Amino acid sequence: MAKKVKQPSAHRNGIKPPKLERKQIPNHVAIVMDGNGRWAKSQGLPRTAGHEAGEKALVDIVNGAIEIGIKELSVYAFSTENWKRSPQEVKFLMGFNRDVIHSRRDELNDLGVKIRWVGREKRLWKTVVDELEQAESLTKNNKVLTLNMCINYGGRAEILDAAVAIAKDAMRKKIKPDALTEKSITKYLYAPLMSDVDLFIRSSGEQRTSNFLMWQSAYAEMVFLDVLWPDADRRTLWKAIEIYAERERRFGKA
Ligand code: IPE
Ligand code: IPE
Ligand code: MG
Repeated sequence: MAKKVKQPSAHRNGIKPPKLERKQIPNHVAIVMDGNGRWAKSQGLPRTAGHEAGEKALVDIVNGAIEIGIKELSVYAFSTENWKRSPQEVKFLMGFNRDVIHSRRDELNDLGVKIRWVGREKRLWKTVVDELEQAESLTKNNKVLTLNMCINYGGRAEILDAAVAIAKDAMRKKIKPDALTEKSITKYLYAPLMSDVDLFIRSSGEQRTSNFLMWQSAYAEMVFLDVLWPDADRRTLWKAIEIYAERERRFGKA
């Protein structure tokens, strides 16, 4: 028997998503959740308090994504470059990601969210990988929304890891180099089933991708918003979608 899915919670102000046509709503939204450190600084708090404050923004946005009908949401939680931060901050982020996945997985499962880890295993804490794998297995049959948790993710790392795997398969004669296509390369990415990104959002005012979903975002619409991540909520997502709805996507066509 199919399990009963919980409806997303309403926004605390009771506001509803903008009324848009189905085709104006992106299928896959990617978010660079940026600005936690600056938010904390503005409050006179340590950087780690900014990361903590970002958790509720993510949860509200997941609910808002379901409300408006998005099918896939990718969030950048820790990049392959974030290892360059202080050992204390790296340690905090590892433990924090592990604990958030653990404490939120049942709630996300009830909402019908399928959690998927996207990233590199090398260097990532084993306890984080374990939590991610447990969350994946708990939510694997869910169909409402796929939430890609991008942890120890880097676009170049992903393409490099794919290139290595492709070269190995070619040496074992499992594939013919000349037969490779853009489609067959996606089988070697961290999440072969991930769809192309339609809408790419970054908070905090920075206008760069910082190595997020390079391959998948080739034709994404970019929306940069000034809000710092801990101040974001589903209205931030909906605002970006309204901007997206006004864009004309051409994919190279005239
Ligand atoms: C984003 O916030 C969270 C992570 C990168 C883990 P930052 O920590 O980058 O915050 P800022 O950019 O320094 O304000
Ligand atoms: C990108 O933000 C990574 C995440 C949000 C996880 P950063 O704050 O690390 O990116 P840069 O250093 O400003 O480019
Ligand atoms: Mg940042």
